Amino acid sequence: MRTESGQIFKLGDYRPTDFVVERIDLTFELDPAATKVVSRMILHRREGVAADAALVLDGDELTLDGLQLDGNDIDPAGYAVTPDSLTIRALPESGPFEITVSTTISPETNTTLMGLYRSSGVYCTQCEAEGFRRITYFYDRPDVLAVYTVTVIARKDDAKLLLSNGNFLGGGDYDEGRHFAAWFDPHPKPSYLFALVGGDLGMIEDSFTTMSGRDVALKIYVEHGKEARAAYAMDALKRSMKWDEEVYGREYDLDIFQIVAVSDFNMGAMENKGLNVFNDKYVLADPETATDADYANIEAIIAHEYFHNWTGNRITCRDWFQLCLKEGLTVYRDHTFSADQRSAPVKRIAEIRLLKAHQFPEDAGPLAHPVRPQKYREINNFYTATVYEKGSEVVRMIRTILGAEDFRKGMDLYFERHDGDASTIEDFLACFTDASGRDLTQFALWYSQAGTPLVTVSTDWNEAGKTFSVTLEQSLAPTPGQSRKALMHIPLAYGLILPDGREFEGQPHGGEAGNGVFHLTKRKQTFRFAGVPERPVLSINRGFSAPVNIAMEQSIADLAHIARHDSDGVARWQAINDHATRSLISAARLSRDDRKLPSVAELAEILIATAADESLEPAFRAQTLTLPSESDIAREIGGNIDPDAIHAAREAVMKEVAHAGLETFAALADSAPTGPYSPDAEDAGKRALAATAMAYASIAEGWPDRLKKAFDAADNMTMMAQALQLLVYQFASAEETREALESFRARFADNPLALDKWHTIQAMAPGAKSYDRVEHLLAGPDFDRTNPNRMRALVGAFSAGNPTGFNRADGAGYRLLAREVIAIDKRNPQLAARLLTALRSWQSLESGRQEHARLALVSIREAGALSADVSDIVDRMLP
Ligand code: ARG
Ligand code: ZN
Repeated sequence: MRTESGQIFKLGDYRPTDFVVERIDLTFELDPAATKVVSRMILHRREGVAADAALVLDGDELTLDGLQLDGNDIDPAGYAVTPDSLTIRALPESGPFEITVSTTISPETNTTLMGLYRSSGVYCTQCEAEGFRRITYFYDRPDVLAVYTVTVIARKDDAKLLLSNGNFLGGGDYDEGRHFAAWFDPHPKPSYLFALVGGDLGMIEDSFTTMSGRDVALKIYVEHGKEARAAYAMDALKRSMKWDEEVYGREYDLDIFQIVAVSDFNMGAMENKGLNVFNDKYVLADPETATDADYANIEAIIAHEYFHNWTGNRITCRDWFQLCLKEGLTVYRDHTFSADQRSAPVKRIAEIRLLKAHQFPEDAGPLAHPVRPQKYREINNFYTATVYEKGSEVVRMIRTILGAEDFRKGMDLYFERHDGDASTIEDFLACFTDASGRDLTQFALWYSQAGTPLVTVSTDWNEAGKTFSVTLEQSLAPTPGQSRKALMHIPLAYGLILPDGREFEGQPHGGEAGNGVFHLTKRKQTFRFAGVPERPVLSINRGFSAPVNIAMEQSIADLAHIARHDSDGVARWQAINDHATRSLISAARLSRDDRKLPSVAELAEILIATAADESLEPAFRAQTLTLPSESDIAREIGGNIDPDAIHAAREAVMKEVAHAGLETFAALADSAPTGPYSPDAEDAGKRALAATAMAYASIAEGWPDRLKKAFDAADNMTMMAQALQLLVYQFASAEETREALESFRARFADNPLALDKWHTIQAMAPGAKSYDRVEHLLAGPDFDRTNPNRMRALVGAFSAGNPTGFNRADGAGYRLLAREVIAIDKRNPQLAARLLTALRSWQSLESGRQEHARLALVSIREAGALSADVSDIVDRMLP
């Protein structure tokens, strides 16, 4: 583990390496405790680099066994070595030379899950961002692209299967009890895309014929016995390959594409060239154990990693500051893929919900950073919602500004101009400018300024003159390290909806607008429409065209008008959601003062009418019926948060809606499709509607019978998990709930992914008592701290997904998190740092909780011997 060094990396300090690595030949002799790695590199000095410049390579916890130059041992005086660097002096001035580095590493004791490690007996690697340096000394940075040949040798009984990047060269017996396999990847790549897998795994196989007629073998490896559960992932892979050809003209470029699922993984998945490694949670699915949400995630992540082959692998990043170049763009690509495969408005609503739930709080708290950070201490802490999700929104805005056609031209130019490069955001933006003629200088601020802009909107209707004007004003609050902000280019899609529901088509004056988009580029701008027949209602930020907060005094009647007539489904949902948010905020205020809550009859009527409206997609109705979460309400309130008051308010609102619509909800609760399960969007939407309706119906009935029956009758995990969750949330102490939990646990005793759900459902049960339950589960026989999925399922779900439980007024929740973070940091710093970010909004709590949270953070800081990952987060969170 790297402990805190205090070193800060800065974007402005970029400098190319002194030496160029042309090729690297790696040989691994796999062994759990002592794997031998021999790396032979062909290098040359870059032109213009001084003759006395040394070659300085990165390492992390390495021991050097041997070092040669062109086959001869280098004299100890000619190099200097530490566990984290190797410096070689006196190298040839010109022409290529060969350096051979030998190291020995221990996969079985590597608990960081970075570099080469073992997961359930399988050797696997994770090299992004800086894991390759835990395997051998190398220029472990994304701008060093080399051609890799990899030979893996292992005992047959230790690793039957030997995989690496690229195409298979050959293999066979090696010596007594051992065999080998050799792989060659012709595409130059950075070290973070290196991968190796060794083990005994099951496999499913398929093939794909590319648009130019090349056959590609597709293989997905999973634990023996789980092969059938990889079928959906394979299907998603083939659809992704086809989609990238059709939508971007991008074809796959090796003879084989392989995916390996492992059970211990720090993130979702990894796009290693030709050999993706996945958290098995995002590969394995069958109706009995996976929910509709799991299926949708698998589809999205399989697509995401596949799309990286062009946006990430063929065009990579110059340095880690440019992470959003590959991640924001690839998230954008997987979002549009899912939108095309499913319902576009429903997908967009889910994206907006996620962005607001994860990215907006990040931008509003102590961990705020630009989409392209300007400095970092630990790059692993920048795989964030800002880099990924806001990064995707920025690409989406480019498309909104340029239009579909010029956006595609810009992408084509990007692929053409930068294929094989390690690029920057400047390179990327230049392609869109050159393809469209559009100046994106001001727009580029989206990459460098942190924080969520606020756009204040006011309208003015002049009845006599038949003019309507819209005034927009932007502001951006200071964020850490950025006290002054420049004015941004904010594209706001809009519509003017007339009383009869038609849209007013005229163009405004006073600022740049076109194709239904206002381009807000100044602090304050007024857009004037003339010849408007009657007072229109403004629909603004349609489709969430810009990731901003909107402040506008809009009457409930106007929101209802948008909800009824907007041609954009997302805007209709948004209007109802705004209405609900308003009711919930005022209920939370009253609840805090122990005052009686006013009726929300109007909101109830809209929700019930939407629930029953068969002209709307079921998935859309389910989204609309799902009230803003407790965290959503907290975020909108902004400060001095009392989670208990918010919870009470939301419960009361749900209850009133539930009673008012019991008949409708009870009928819909039974409307889930029967017959064989299909994970497609249509059936999933029907289940989502039934599940949401079930929540209301059981609240109104006040009795667990319906839920227990649904639980017992469920023939798929979606409905079963929903019924169990509602039992635990609504009837925590009922006998039915105890029985259901017990039967679930017994049924899935040997299915870790299903047991994760069992932990998560209990971790998220509202109320102060859930703390005791979490402590109990942590001490239980099913708990395994070494498995990141299980840690996230319990500690992560409790701290990031249970506002009332985690934020218990006595601070016990924070102390639990601090204790677990300190403990896990010793094994797996990345996981520890990630779990700790659950406290990122601690300063918006009321003062009592705030003080408990602060003390918990201080206790972590004072625990000592922290990893670079955790100390970076703690130091940024504590002022
Ligand atoms: N590039 C991967 C993805 O977006 C994420 C890997 C991040 N891993 C890490 N250890 N930081 O799919
Ligand atoms: Zn990615």
